[in-house]
Amino acid sequence: MIKVDDIAFVRFSAPDLDKMEMFLKDFGLVRAHRDDKTLYMRGLDPDPYFHVTHLGEPGFIGLAFEAKSDGDLAQIAKSEDAKVETLDGPGGGKVVRLTDPNGFKVEVVAARSPLEKLDVPATDLTNDARAQPRRNHLKRLQLKTAHVKRLGHCVINVKDFRASEAWYKSRFGLITSDEIFIGSEDQALGAFMRCDRGDLPADHHTMFMVGTGTPKFNHAAFEVVDYDDLMAGHHLLKSKGYVHEWGVGRHILGSQVFDYWRDPWGHAVEHWTDGDLLTASWGSRKAPIDDLVGVQWGMPAPPTMA
Ligand SMILES: [Fe+2]
Repeated sequence: MIKVDDIAFVRFSAPDLDKMEMFLKDFGLVRAHRDDKTLYMRGLDPDPYFHVTHLGEPGFIGLAFEAKSDGDLAQIAKSEDAKVETLDGPGGGKVVRLTDPNGFKVEVVAARSPLEKLDVPATDLTNDARAQPRRNHLKRLQLKTAHVKRLGHCVINVKDFRASEAWYKSRFGLITSDEIFIGSEDQALGAFMRCDRGDLPADHHTMFMVGTGTPKFNHAAFEVVDYDDLMAGHHLLKSKGYVHEWGVGRHILGSQVFDYWRDPWGHAVEHWTDGDLLTASWGSRKAPIDDLVGVQWGMPAPPTMA
């Protein structure tokens, strides 16, 4: 077993790359590379890309994890009897290609060359009830779209939760942060899982899998700069007539402030900020489904999020 470091990218296919690129730019991503058949989009962080669209029938293809080293990539290739191949796209790199029990393509990548980091929009000091450090300085944000920093997590609906959980954990070393149950604690529906980064913090979840019985893409989630950035993005997307799904609110599990939208082919994509970070020693918990669909503030999940 290796321990992956993070999620690397999500892959989709869509029949119109112009339309996808326009939506993703409005959503706060930046073009990394595009050719006749493939669109690669990035964010503020130096990752060469984290959203890929191939020209074709609309759909979700799969997700990729970042291995901690070339050695880990070689190890997983050996244990899976798979090849280490060259990864297409900006930044190059190497890849091992697998298929999960639901038919989703799962790639493990390493040795991608980073791009130049993009500037995070400047922010002013914030005055609140606790402290008022901003004096003789007017707050003028000048935000248009949100600014996506990175891909944070991917959520999939799976055929059999325990089978998928075992498949992902035994290969990639994922740790359960919160296992979701319905009724009694032994009736598991799914789990939020994080990467094992030892003493380094990891997002509360890099993956969430829900045992609905039918494999389906649920959503991919992208970290934005801060709350103002998320709200600026919300109003920009609203003004352009995109389909809003859920939010703005604050999740219970993971604690993020969230806002969900649909891409032009109906794939749910989330903006989030201010999520929980956990080290490996934090351990695992169980939580009722009410904590999954409920919120700390905002509206609870609509049925269309299932
Ligand atoms: Fe999410």
